Amino acid sequence: MYLYSDGKFLKEEQVCLSPLDRSYLYGEGIFETLKAQEGRVLFFKEHWERLFKGSQSLGFKINFSEQDLHDILIDLLKKNNFLVARLRVTLSRQNQSWEDPSPKDHLNLLAVASPLTEKEAKEELFPVEAILLREIRFLSDALSHVKSTSRLRYLWAYAQAKAAHCNEALLLDTEGYLLEGSRSNLFYWNGKAWQTPSLGTGALPGVTRQVIIEIFKEAKIPFEEVRAFPEALKNAKEAFLTGSVRGISALTKVDGQAIGEAQVGEETQKVFKLWQTRVGQELAD
Ligand SMILES: Cc1ncc(COP(=O)(O)O)c(C=O)c1O
Repeated sequence: MYLYSDGKFLKEEQVCLSPLDRSYLYGEGIFETLKAQEGRVLFFKEHWERLFKGSQSLGFKINFSEQDLHDILIDLLKKNNFLVARLRVTLSRQNQSWEDPSPKDHLNLLAVASPLTEKEAKEELFPVEAILLREIRFLSDALSHVKSTSRLRYLWAYAQAKAAHCNEALLLDTEGYLLEGSRSNLFYWNGKAWQTPSLGTGALPGVTRQVIIEIFKEAKIPFEEVRAFPEALKNAKEAFLTGSVRGISALTKVDGQAIGEAQVGEETQKVFKLWQTRVGQELAD
C-alpha cells in the first residue's frame, strides 16, 4: 500500500515518523477521515474547511492549498488502485530538537488510503445499538470543534461499547446533556421534528451532520439543534448516527432499551433516501 508522507508517495514500510513528532509525543495533531467512492472524494470541501479551521486554532501554518490536498488524495487513490476507500489526512508538527517548540517547526502531512470492509462499502441503512456512557464527561470549550489526534477518551468510550457488544458509545457533556457518539453525531425523531445536540454542547461539527442539516433545510423537514438530557433520546420514536465513512446508521437500541419500535423507522428511511441523492449529486459534480 502507498502512503503520502511529507511530499512523497512511499510504500507503507518506507514511511518513518520522527520521535519528535508532537502528535506522537503529545497528541497535538489534527486529522480528517474521508470516504472515497468511484475514485472521488466525498465532501472534500467541507473536510478541508474543518481541517483549515482546526489548523488556525492550533497555530499550524498550512503550506499547501485546498487543490494541492485534493490532488494528493486523488493520486493516492490511483497509486493504490482504489475506487472505494477510507482516506485519512493527519497534520502534525515536528519539533526540531528536544527543546521547546519553535515557530520554525516542520508541519508533517500524512495521507493514507485503506480499503473499506464490505459493510462500510455498501450503501445501505444498517441498524446499530449503542451504550450511554456516564463514567466520563466531555467538555465544551474553544477546542471542541478541532478534530484532534488526542483521542484517549473517545477510544476508551468506543472500547466500552465494543465490550458491551454494541456499535457505539453515546457521550454526555459535563452538565449531563447528550453530546454525540465516540465517532458519530446523533439525530433523533421526537414525532414532530428531528433533533440533534447543538454545537454548544461541544459536539464535533461533523461533516455528515452538516450535510444532513442542509438536507433538512432544503426539504423543509422540521429540525432543531438542542441541549437535551438522555431521556429525550429514550423517548424518541427513531434515531440515527452519522459519520463520513458509514454515512447514516439507524440507532435502534440504547443500553438494550428500544428506541421506538427498535427498527429502521420510516422517517429515518426518508432521510436516508435524501442522503443517497445528495451523495449521488456529489459524485456527479
Ligand atoms: C467524536 C466524533 N463525532 C462525530 C464524528 C462524525 O464526523 P464526520 O461526519 O465528519 O465524520 C466523528 C468522526 O470521526 C467523531 O470522531
